[in-house]
Formats: sequence, C-alpha cells, structure tokens
Amino acid sequence: AAIEYELEAPYTVEYHESIGSTNDRARERAADGDRDIVVVADEQTGGRGRLERSWDSPPGGIWASTVLDPTLPAAHVPLVTLAAGVAVVDACRAVGVEATLKWPNDVLVGDAPDSRRGDADATTDAARGGQKLAGILTEMEGEADRVSWLLVGVGLNANIAPEALPNDATSLQEQIGAVDRRAVLQTILESLSALVAAPETIIEQWRAYSSTLGRTVRVDTGRNEIEGKAVDVQFPGALVVDTDSGEEVVHAGDCEHLRPV
Ligand code: BTN
Repeated sequence: AAIEYELEAPYTVEYHESIGSTNDRARERAADGDRDIVVVADEQTGGRGRLERSWDSPPGGIWASTVLDPTLPAAHVPLVTLAAGVAVVDACRAVGVEATLKWPNDVLVGDAPDSRRGDADATTDAARGGQKLAGILTEMEGEADRVSWLLVGVGLNANIAPEALPNDATSLQEQIGAVDRRAVLQTILESLSALVAAPETIIEQWRAYSSTLGRTVRVDTGRNEIEGKAVDVQFPGALVVDTDSGEEVVHAGDCEHLRPV
C-alpha cells in the first residue's frame, strides 16, 4: 500500500517501497485529474527509459514521477524536460557532485574528452562523455495547443552501491557517500517548479550546465547520422549542430544516440 506524505514544496508524495514504474502510476493519477503530486519508489521492477529502453532501478535510487499542472502547448514540452535536467543538476551540485547535462536528457558526472583516452574503441558511448548519474522521461497527452496532462519522471542513482550500477553509470553514493534522498528530491522539485514558473530562464541555465555544447558530436536519428560541432540548444529544446553542409537542427525525439567524437 502507498504511504502519503507532504514535501515542503506544494506536492503530495505517494510513496511505494516497490512498484513497476512510477511513470505508469503517475499516468494513472494524471488521467484521474490529479496534479502537483509525486509518485516515489525505493525500487522499480519495470523502470522505463527513453526509446522503450529499460531502466535499472534497484533499491536506494530516487525514482520519482511528478504530475505538473501545465498550461503550455505540447510543442513546448521539451523545455520542461530540459528544466528537469537543470533541476537534477541543481540538486546534485547542492550536495557537492559536479554533474553536467548531456543533450537531450542525461545527467552525467565526469566529462572525459576524447583526447585523454587513447582507447576510444574500447570505451562505450556514455563513458566517453562521462558516467550517467540520472535520466529524465517526460510523458504527456493532449492537443497541439495545450497539454491535458504532463508528467516528468526522474531516475537518479542516489544511494546505490557501485556494484549494483549498470556499466557506465555512477551514483551519488559512489561520488560522495549516501545522501538524504528526501532532501535531494525536495531540491529537485523546488528547482523544477521555479524553472517552470520562469520558462524564459530554462535554456540559459541548461547551457550553463551543458557538457555537450562546444563538442564535436555524432547524433544517430535512426534515419541518418549527423556529425558536427554542437553549437547551441534552441527553443523549445532542439540541438543545433554545425556540420560540413551547414547547420542542422535535431529534435530530442529524433535522437537515438549522441556521442562525442
Ligand atoms: C532515460 O535516461 O532514458 C530516462 C530514464 C528515466 C527513468 C525514470 S525512473 C522514474 C521514472 N519511472 C520510470 O519508469 N522511468 C522514469
């Protein structure tokens, strides 16, 4: 059975020791008309990532999905995903972990440029740009001009021992030791609400935390590969890549892989 508690931010928490996916539960709550709620679990048995990938969610992480109360057009939703990344980085930095953002929605620690690695082929995509600390999975339903509901799922490897982590991932515990998960979640939600209330500040803050901009990257869209220098992130969240044949704008939904080259 779920336990309910209040966070200081105006959110009611529905806490589960174990659940399939907090995003799935948050979808149900969203469809019921609930807003400003967070579904939190200690462990997920069917955690989901982007592009139908599975998401390892052992006990000790921050697995949380919040149903926001948005009055924004569907086309602006990518901005909320960027905001969630910024909020997670804010919370990690508040506890002393120098996290950065990899477009479109990864939170990384460490940022090893290629030049420092002689064995690039032996290194996987994620490790080349750092180890993954967190990911964001935003879901919505609605019309082009207005979303009817919007939820943001955050998966943050918080108190997870290094041996329980997937390859190329890290955790707050590995970086600095165990953290107060409730306090970290509180910071994420406060920061996310502040950003959503001031959408014009989101991209600027995203740029400041980015470890993608300025890098030469290769983006696989499933249909083609775009290689060039990542020069900017533009409203509402697309990546601008400067290629040999001019600037290409890549939308987050079209990105299957992005790796530094
Ligand atoms: C990704 O990097 O692909 C996104 C990962 C998002 C994982 C979180 S954990 C909480 C919420 N519930 C899920 O099933 N997924 C998101």
